[in-house]
Amino acid sequence: MEFPITRMRRLRKSPQIRNILRETTLRKENFIYPMFVKEDLKKGQIEPIKTMPGENRFSLSSAVEEAKILEEKGLSSILLFGMPSKKDQYGTSAFEENGIVQRAVKEIKEETNLVVMTDVCLCQYTTHGHCGIIENDHILNDESLENLARTALSHAEAGADVVAPSDMMDGRVEAIRDLLDINEFQDTIIMSYAAKYASAFYAPFREAVSSAPSFGDRKTYQMDPSNALEALREAELDLMEGADILVVKPALAYLDIIKSVKDEFNVPTAAYSVSGEYSMLKAGIEAGYLTEDAIFESILSIKRAGADLIISNFTPHFLEILKK
Ligand code: PBG
Ligand code: ZN
Repeated sequence: MEFPITRMRRLRKSPQIRNILRETTLRKENFIYPMFVKEDLKKGQIEPIKTMPGENRFSLSSAVEEAKILEEKGLSSILLFGMPSKKDQYGTSAFEENGIVQRAVKEIKEETNLVVMTDVCLCQYTTHGHCGIIENDHILNDESLENLARTALSHAEAGADVVAPSDMMDGRVEAIRDLLDINEFQDTIIMSYAAKYASAFYAPFREAVSSAPSFGDRKTYQMDPSNALEALREAELDLMEGADILVVKPALAYLDIIKSVKDEFNVPTAAYSVSGEYSMLKAGIEAGYLTEDAIFESILSIKRAGADLIISNFTPHFLEILKK
């Protein structure tokens, strides 16, 4: 049937009609809030992040308070990033029993019912800022796996529900799954960054957590933005190694990757709408070029592309605007 029998505008004629026909909806449960916990901050202290207006670094106690407030507003999950007071070339402060993330996990699990997820990486904990161990300016793969796995185990021991390796070393999902299982953490979930691209959209985050590499870049381990088929190989390998949830990162410039990973594997898929996506929208709104509706439309597109979960610094905004 075609015009005039078929009229597409019939189905758009009122808010009520549009409401009942909406294909994609965002729910509060879809959101994961990334939080930055900084060991050096004093009790109750919060530090604004210059490159991410509206976002903060939290002391341990203020992170717990913030988590409680957001839970009241309907938050389901948080993703914790740590900023340790000590760094070394191996990133050993990433797996200290009493490290900042480990303590934050413990307290937030005690004080809330949130799903607690942790970033597993070494870059915030190494003096050189790379995600693995280095030798002669090379980022070593196999030698990095042990410290990554120990980090994941220490998070699981603290009570993390989900560990999220973001380092992009080959074989780390298997190394983590093995160490977790040997230590009877069979039920700790692995959410792996299967397709993490070497992206310019991470810039505000690196300033936020002081994790910019001191030399070189991350292109020998993070993916080339030109590659889509390679993302499917990465996803397949992570699944074979035991990943439960796959992450695509960044999100907005990689909607095609989100869609193809979801379509190909049909496993729970998360997308990380990264700091640069947050800050560019914030800047556009601040300048008066955009309205806040651009936030909704951007995040909606990530869900429409196939993401089940969205990691976003806009999570508090959505807890305000979404019903229930
Ligand atoms: C590295 C890491 C990155 C982000 C979180 N952990 C990327 C990077 O610095 O290469 C980016 C998060 C964001 O931009 O919001 N393990
Ligand atoms: Zn890293």
